[in-house]
Amino acid sequence: MNEKQLAGKKAASYVQEGMTVGLGTGSTVYWTILEIARMVKEGMKITGVATSNNTEKLAQELGIPLVSLEDVSSIDLTIDGADELTEDLTLIKGGGGALLREKMIAYHSTHMIVVADSSKFVNQLGTFPLPVEITPFGYAKTVNALEKLGCAASLRKENESNFLTDNGNYIVDCSFGEIHYPTTLHDTLNQIPGVVENGLFIGYAAKAIIGQENTITYIEK
Ligand code: 5RP
Repeated sequence: MNEKQLAGKKAASYVQEGMTVGLGTGSTVYWTILEIARMVKEGMKITGVATSNNTEKLAQELGIPLVSLEDVSSIDLTIDGADELTEDLTLIKGGGGALLREKMIAYHSTHMIVVADSSKFVNQLGTFPLPVEITPFGYAKTVNALEKLGCAASLRKENESNFLTDNGNYIVDCSFGEIHYPTTLHDTLNQIPGVVENGLFIGYAAKAIIGQENTITYIEK
């Protein structure tokens, strides 16, 4: 098993009968979803809440019962990946462009577990450019406003068009260099009109399961 597979599969062991589970997005939580599907096939009753259209499609194909965020009273546990994470479980997410739904679902969850391979664990956030979801309306002005904060801002592309999120928005990948004050940056970004949400997840995750060669390391808060 590779590191992503190890971490992803392990996280599924925290899913229990009757839970409502936030299903993250990406190639690590893919293994969690596969394992949850196996548990469902064996008779476990759980309900999933998908963080993206891709995850929704995967879960449907695998036979995991889904419910929309509107229709759940609470989510017991969300399992999701990260692009970077530090010892205090501050995360950069959004590499797959799903950060808004991921953050909404994490916010409404009692617990969040992060799954990652060892390359994601860093001393300081910021090598991975911070994804920021912005509205298409006035996007060039919003990109300028982001650049004024001191980052190199790059509008994400897909097949030569602007990348579109599941919410019909754009993503700007912002290279700030080392992020020493994530809370300040988070709040500053979200104060710019046109910014919908940014990929800093602060205070959401209570546990990280990290694949490390052939073994697993845990970080807990
Ligand atoms: C998607 C995300 C993913 O969780 C993040 O990109 C990690 O993905 P992977 O497990 O494929 O490395 O934030 O928006």
